[in-house]
Amino acid sequence: MNDRARWNEKYHAEIHAARVNTNLIRYAHLLKRGRVLDLAGGLGQNGAWLGSHSNEFRIVNADISEEGLSRAPKEIARVVVEASHLPFTQQSFDTILNIRFYDRRVNFFELLALDGTVFFETYTIADQKYRPDFNPCYLFDLANLSEMFRGLEILQQQETDDGKRVYATVIARRIT
Ligand SMILES: C[S@@+](CC[C@H](N)C(=O)[O-])C[C@H]1O[C@@H](n2cnc3c(N)ncnc32)[C@H](O)[C@@H]1O
Repeated sequence: MNDRARWNEKYHAEIHAARVNTNLIRYAHLLKRGRVLDLAGGLGQNGAWLGSHSNEFRIVNADISEEGLSRAPKEIARVVVEASHLPFTQQSFDTILNIRFYDRRVNFFELLALDGTVFFETYTIADQKYRPDFNPCYLFDLANLSEMFRGLEILQQQETDDGKRVYATVIARRIT
């Protein structure tokens, strides 16, 4: 089953609302206001929270799943995309949210305008101790930090083991 079919099926069965990311709330002050790409935004709760935090954040929720997007807030722009072939021109965004999603082919540097920021939080390879069956292609290896965030200054970087999952949080800014 491909990613689109898998996620459409998941969202079809989903019965509860998704939670806003707590580190996004904590670090929102570091993010550049303006055009925001909520990449793989799913039900859209994180972008919606950011937009309600300040109307200077103008969000587009871009996700592979029509089913997820159909359940996302209607007041936020939504577009069906495949993350590895994004339809946006270079430097289109002031901030990118990349939460609980990982595709190493995404090029943050190209998508961000100068001084633009990325909020990235996703499961790392250390998470395998909790989910040994999880496909390792979807896990971030901190050893790839400089490749994933090339051309960006790292403002914040941490790896958290909360006793159930292990995930990395990275906030970075385009400086050239
Ligand atoms: C774990 S959910 C995270 C959703 C949201 N970012 C959040 O934090 O609640 C992963 C999301 O990635 C989307 N997704 C999976 N593969 C994708 C792809 N290749 N391109 C774009 N979105 C994708 C799914 O549809 C799903 O909404």
